[in-house]
Amino acid sequence: MSFTLNNVNIGIIGLGYVGLPLAVEFGKKYQTIGFDINKERVTALVDGHDSTLEVSDEELADVKQLNFSCNKQDLANCNIYIVTVPTPIDDNNSPDLNPLRKASGLLGEFVKKGDVVIYESTVYPGATEEVCLPIIEKTSGLVFNKDFFAGYSPERINPGDKVNTLTKIMKITSGSTPEVGQFVNDLYSSIITAGTHLAGSIKVAEAAKVIENTQRDLNIAIINEFAKIFNKLGIDTEEVLDAAGTKWNFLKFKPGLVGGHCISVDPYYLTHKAQEVGYRPEVILAGRRINDGMGEYVATQLVKKLSSQKIHVDEAKILVLGFTFKGDCPDVRNTKIIDIVDELKDFNMSVDVYDGWANPVEVEHEYNLSLINSLTEDHYDGIVLAVDHSEFKKMGVDAIRKFGKQKHVLYDVKHVFGSKDSDIRL
Ligand SMILES: NC(=O)c1ccc[n+]([C@@H]2O[C@H](COP(=O)([O-])OP(=O)(O)OC[C@H]3O[C@@H](n4cnc5c(N)ncnc54)[C@H](O)[C@@H]3O)[C@@H](O)[C@H]2O)c1
Repeated sequence: MSFTLNNVNIGIIGLGYVGLPLAVEFGKKYQTIGFDINKERVTALVDGHDSTLEVSDEELADVKQLNFSCNKQDLANCNIYIVTVPTPIDDNNSPDLNPLRKASGLLGEFVKKGDVVIYESTVYPGATEEVCLPIIEKTSGLVFNKDFFAGYSPERINPGDKVNTLTKIMKITSGSTPEVGQFVNDLYSSIITAGTHLAGSIKVAEAAKVIENTQRDLNIAIINEFAKIFNKLGIDTEEVLDAAGTKWNFLKFKPGLVGGHCISVDPYYLTHKAQEVGYRPEVILAGRRINDGMGEYVATQLVKKLSSQKIHVDEAKILVLGFTFKGDCPDVRNTKIIDIVDELKDFNMSVDVYDGWANPVEVEHEYNLSLINSLTEDHYDGIVLAVDHSEFKKMGVDAIRKFGKQKHVLYDVKHVFGSKDSDIRL
């Protein structure tokens, strides 16, 4: 079987943070269909707007060979399928592969002889070949690596980051045979200006992605642990990190809340697979426990500070600035700010949350929380600056403190301002 970039007709399955930018880039070069089961999402994209804000209206309008659809029949003429559906975890922190299974079942209806299916969703090593491809084989009646072929190319985009965008980040590629690997690599090389790295197998590419995020999770976890120790010792963590960072091989991470659906989720994919093959991971899960507890830790620190300032904790009014899982990004999935809010409410405090980036309807639906849409001065006993949105940076610390009563506590979770500007920092 020979593979060529002539007559490439691409179908992208799942048009979220990952799928849409990919569809846009491929749509600049090849005939591309962006398919999603979410009708509202497809309608908005057809109308020319991306609610994730990853692609501007102008860029969307400019892509000539890209069409959006929620009608699966529109995938019938594709010969390359790229799967970018979510890979969440369930309540027990186990991988939830249902979106991948469903997408694979759908592709089984359309895959023809000679077609290539490429997965981009983050998974554990082995998931593509052990879970996804057998579903396509079963549904299509075709034989994997004889009739149809596969690749895996993990995504590395960083939502909200307007500098390190899809084409500027080196991309790992892989294929189910050496020829398919080369083809998948050529395909991505045609849109990724930063270059590609062709991995030796699909499993290697899967493993590389999952350890990238696991390493980041652990690096943040140890800094969070340092911060907890230094807070007890009365030392400013940022000052310590700045000092230690003058050594060439000290890694410059910052303490913080680890939310979102990548860093806080992907390590569980790896630990799941590790346990399946009889290895009990220790370090990875310890890091997860520390990072998962940081929301509660922030709330407890605030309560202690309020008490030490003789501000009544019971019925104290608290303002939380920011709700999304990171700055300048509308994504509220797995935000750890909800842990701060819930913990403060457990202390019988009244908590207002303000975030101009978050969609209030989504927040209400997912978290049963009504965001406030205007800010009142001289009103709060405590202010938690929880997310480093540019808007808050621009406001400046004096303007933010004006929302507090004459006597209040300001907690700068993300070290947005200098160490002397707030009353506590993480
Ligand atoms: N967002 C990131 O920063 C990022 C970065 C790297 C990798 N990833 C990984 O990429 C994958 C996708 O993440 P995302 O952030 O784009 O998710 P997302 O939730 O933003 O988008 C997924 C889209 O897939 C659609 N979908 C779900 N099931 C479908 C199906 N069966 N058929 C068609 N469409 C379906 C959803 O409606 C949604 O629009 C995940 O595995 C994630 O871990 C995400």
